[in-house]
Amino acid sequence: MLVTGHTGFKGAWLSLWLQALGARVTGLAPGPPTRPSFYELAGVGQSMREHPVDVRDAGAVRWALEDARPEIVLHLAAQPMVRRSLHDPVMTYEVNVMGTVNVLEAVRRAGGEVRALVVVTSDKCYENAGEPARRFSEADRLGGGDPYSSSKACAELVAGAYRASFLSAEGSSRVATARAGNVIGGGDWGEDRLIGDVVRAIDARRPVRIRSPRAVRPWQHVMNPLSGYLRLAEELCRTDEAARAWNFGPREEDARPVSWILERLVALWGDALRWELDEAANPHEAAHLALDSSLAERGLGWRPGWDLEQALERVVEWHRAQLAGEHMRRVSLEQIQQFAQAQTPR
Ligand SMILES: NC(=O)c1ccc[n+]([C@@H]2O[C@H](COP(=O)([O-])OP(=O)(O)OC[C@H]3O[C@@H](n4cnc5c(N)ncnc54)[C@H](O)[C@@H]3O)[C@@H](O)[C@H]2O)c1
Repeated sequence: MLVTGHTGFKGAWLSLWLQALGARVTGLAPGPPTRPSFYELAGVGQSMREHPVDVRDAGAVRWALEDARPEIVLHLAAQPMVRRSLHDPVMTYEVNVMGTVNVLEAVRRAGGEVRALVVVTSDKCYENAGEPARRFSEADRLGGGDPYSSSKACAELVAGAYRASFLSAEGSSRVATARAGNVIGGGDWGEDRLIGDVVRAIDARRPVRIRSPRAVRPWQHVMNPLSGYLRLAEELCRTDEAARAWNFGPREEDARPVSWILERLVALWGDALRWELDEAANPHEAAHLALDSSLAERGLGWRPGWDLEQALERVVEWHRAQLAGEHMRRVSLEQIQQFAQAQTPR
């Protein structure tokens, strides 16, 4: 398997899980985007082959793919921040759009050796006027009012065009896109990420500053969409009906306002966590975002394994263990095992 973005938050959890499953994993990404990082703390690079390649370098992407000869490619590498995309739109489009083109092109040139490619985009790829009580389904219009969101809509279009033009014949690689959002989990120190901001504030013994406490997001533990990506890759290897776009969101009741998450975190973490409103001017972000994942439930038999309450408990457990100096590869593997057990039908 080839995982692009394996040093990032989602890619590192995914790579560790694949290692636990006994898969031969190659990673494609420069070093971790944050320090500390889940990648370093869980020793993800220890047991996999790695290529420190920039996805904007088409030749290097092709070379890495030829070297790894994967059956399955999971493309997660991206510039994933809305605010950074407003400061650097060109880089965001280069990485998220041309990077995806380069991965698709490398897969196309491998001529069917790659059986399945999952392109990870985002719940933000939809045109979103912010109507409450609206859950996006795969047939909804693509859009995006900021460079990050629109770059993910572009990546969807690019994947669709490659599928229709080059990757639909018998024996060719199959490509699908996966739309999920707002994942939480232990070890996310990314800028503008809720858990990262909370952990940094606790470390600095100050209140965490919150931009949009009323914004509703489809929160879920990182393991939920990762299990969807793996299920999707498996199904892509089996049938070309899986070669399309899929939503992987939480249960409907887990689309919650930021303030609700904070109150639950305060209850779990105790006095060490306090929060206050950040009044500074902030980029416009949709007030409400929720996903309809019934297609993945029907078509892939996928369900979110952990609900939001369990997700928050696992996040606090992971960070408490980290603060206590525990062995974080072991702690992370234990959480992966608990998730896998929760998913197994009894
Ligand atoms: N975390 C979320 O809540 C969330 C929500 C929706 C979608 N996503 C998507 O999931 C994917 C993973 O996100 P994440 O949260 O792990 O982000 P992250 O910032 O933690 O990781 C991004 C990864 O991409 C790599 N990368 C960045 N620029 C690169 C380049 N030019 N060439 C090669 N690699 C590069 C980084 O090194 C890192 O490994 C992204 O595609 C993101 O858009 C994330």
